[in-house]
Amino acid sequence: MPTSPEHAGRPAPRGLSRKNLLRAALGAGALPLLTGGGVALARDTPGDGSPLVPTPACDDGDDPTPEQMEGPYFRPNSPRRTSLVEPGTPGTPLTVSGYVFDRGCRPLSDVLLDFWQADDGGAYDNTGFRFRGHQFTTASGEFRLTTIVPGLYPGRTRHLHVKVQPPGGQVLTTQLYFPGEPRNGTDAIFDAALLMNVRDAGGGREATFDFVLAVGQGPGPGPTDPPGATTWAAGTAYTTGDRVSYDGVGYRCLQSHRATAGWEPPHAPALWQRD
Ligand SMILES: [Fe+2]
Repeated sequence: MPTSPEHAGRPAPRGLSRKNLLRAALGAGALPLLTGGGVALARDTPGDGSPLVPTPACDDGDDPTPEQMEGPYFRPNSPRRTSLVEPGTPGTPLTVSGYVFDRGCRPLSDVLLDFWQADDGGAYDNTGFRFRGHQFTTASGEFRLTTIVPGLYPGRTRHLHVKVQPPGGQVLTTQLYFPGEPRNGTDAIFDAALLMNVRDAGGGREATFDFVLAVGQGPGPGPTDPPGATTWAAGTAYTTGDRVSYDGVGYRCLQSHRATAGWEPPHAPALWQRD
């Protein structure tokens, strides 16, 4: 967990990566086909009925989004909502939107994002749920939060808190930052890899950020199948206790069933538990 000043090793800003290209394609609505929970890139569509080429692995160094400390102000059971703005709430309007990808640059649907932040005056609501809310990514892996720019409080630069959890997967706890903030240079927790893209828009701010979760098979050698596991396959009859791997992650069968497309282990927590 990054708690020391020396953590502030600043990764180089990312250039135009394959993920960004995919993001642009998603944003442009240029993806006509969703199969098996993955996204078929437009350029992968042969148009002649032949099978699609599998989405290629990332090769542009898309490391998983770094973890950050939770801090003292998280509260469970936030309301499900995409807007944290309530009538009469002061503050500069802010939207934060983006995608959640796996390490293979595939957008992830039904990912939980639980946001919490300070109000315009830099205070957290520790008795209620003001500026707290959770939502799930869409079928194309997209999220969108409507809120205000969080205020500053002593000892920290400006930031949002968020927990991100794929279905049945591990929770990523992290924070998002704003470029150009004077305190970014002195906050020991700040990590440039967590900077949002932010622009002024309509009297407020529009921010974007894409999360990459440490699931799925990414660049380089992927995780090996756990001992005794077979690769999950639709059509296979599984028995309670069977072990499989899916996208390099091991799962154990919770109840006997015949696998079918759409019941992939990450999407079927009633059937599969991470090993
Ligand atoms: Fe905070």
